[in-house]
Amino acid sequence: MRPLIILLIATAGIAVLAPNQNEKASAPDAALDRMIAAGKNPQELAQYVFDTHGCKSCHTVGHDGKLGFTEKGQERAKGFEGCISMLAAMTVIVQVADDKRTPQQRDKAKRFAEFGCTACHKLAPGALGLTQVGAKLQHLHLGCVNVERLVSSQASPQR
Ligand code: HEC
Ligand code: HEC
Repeated sequence: MRPLIILLIATAGIAVLAPNQNEKASAPDAALDRMIAAGKNPQELAQYVFDTHGCKSCHTVGHDGKLGFTEKGQERAKGFEGCISMLAAMTVIVQVADDKRTPQQRDKAKRFAEFGCTACHKLAPGALGLTQVGAKLQHLHLGCVNVERLVSSQASPQR
């Protein structure tokens, strides 16, 4: 995982995008529930999360367990934080009272929401938590890292 993180952080310099949020994803996800009830396998569920929660506006389905980046994602490098650094930054920002945040911190929190992250990662005052959907996915081991691994290893299931 480590070399991968370093590789992706290097890539992050040229990857940016403000995705079109055409799906509103904060409500409990009925389609996901139906898929679970229908016994869909983890790869199918991960693909569904990937397709419906904004991931594919920045990421392409990669291979060997690694996601790639969309062309659009790479175009808009300026000011972008990738998933890891963004979540890390948010764990700090949620501990700062709303009226004490710097403009940069506000901006980050806003983008975190715009990118669709808050559908699953809850910005409770003082701590970063998970929404109902997020908690369900965590329970199913379908967090972001697992989604990456699952959608990006479909061509090589022997991994
Ligand atoms: C706004 C663009 C954007 C969106 C939306 C986005 N990502 Fe990312 N993601 C990145 C960038 C850029 C990186 C690389 C930098 C980093 O790791 O912080 C990254 C890194 C990651 C990593 C870390 C890779 C590793 O192994 O180190 C995972 C996992 C990941 N994304 C999963 C997801 C999932 C799952 C979604 C959808 C729920 C998603 N991302 C949505 C831009 C995005
Ligand atoms: C569809 C739900 C969903 C969306 C949307 C989502 N996440 Fe996640 N993410 C999760 C879950 C669930 C976990 C696992 C949490 C855990 O195990 O504590 C996770 C884990 C992560 C991790 C790894 C944390 C760790 O310590 O392993 C990062 C980084 C992350 N998310 C960043 C993001 C960012 C940035 C976005 C927005 C671009 C995003 N996520 C959008 C559900 C989601």
